[in-house]
Amino acid sequence: MNQKEIVTKNGQETKELARILCSQWLEINKSKNSNWLVCLYGDLGGGKTTFSQGIGEELGVKEIVNSPTFLIMKKYLSARKANKKYTLYHFDCYRISDAQEILDLGWEDIINGENNIILVEWPERIEKILPKTRLNLKFEVIGEDERKIVFEKSPILKC
Ligand SMILES: Nc1ncnc2c1ncn2[C@@H]1O[C@H](COP(=O)(O)OP(=O)(O)O)[C@@H](O)[C@H]1O
Ligand SMILES: [Mg+2]
Repeated sequence: MNQKEIVTKNGQETKELARILCSQWLEINKSKNSNWLVCLYGDLGGGKTTFSQGIGEELGVKEIVNSPTFLIMKKYLSARKANKKYTLYHFDCYRISDAQEILDLGWEDIINGENNIILVEWPERIEKILPKTRLNLKFEVIGEDERKIVFEKSPILKC
């Protein structure tokens, strides 16, 4: 399979991976109004929220992106990037039992909108409403501070 594995040794390295992937995506999409859907699979404590914080940092979001567990979804505005502002949506589907709950939050408009970056923790809960075009990452705890992050190799992402 055309997959790539990276082992990070602390949360900072996981954020750094997120920043690299995000900056590459921003560069490639700077003259378009694209959306980016990133699905974050894997165990509790795997680093999905830590990764999301790295995305927020790269986008110049002022607040720290933290777990939306009790809210299901949080929305943040980016700093100006390539002359536009992105909206970052952070979903945590851990407590979702029916994908309809996500649809009710305006999912279709978010997915089909412009300049939206959408991060989804526990995407397996809403698999049936996920578009095929997306980046999947899987987080595995392999030691106290070591995390294995597996993602599909893609021509747009050079790392
Ligand atoms: N290599 C690493 N990558 C990400 N987080 C790490 C790493 N090593 C230790 N951690 C710690 O593990 C925890 C991961 O939590 P979090 O990002 O909330 O996971 P999840 O959202 O997948 O449940 C944080 O406390 C973080 O500091
Ligand atoms: Mg989390």
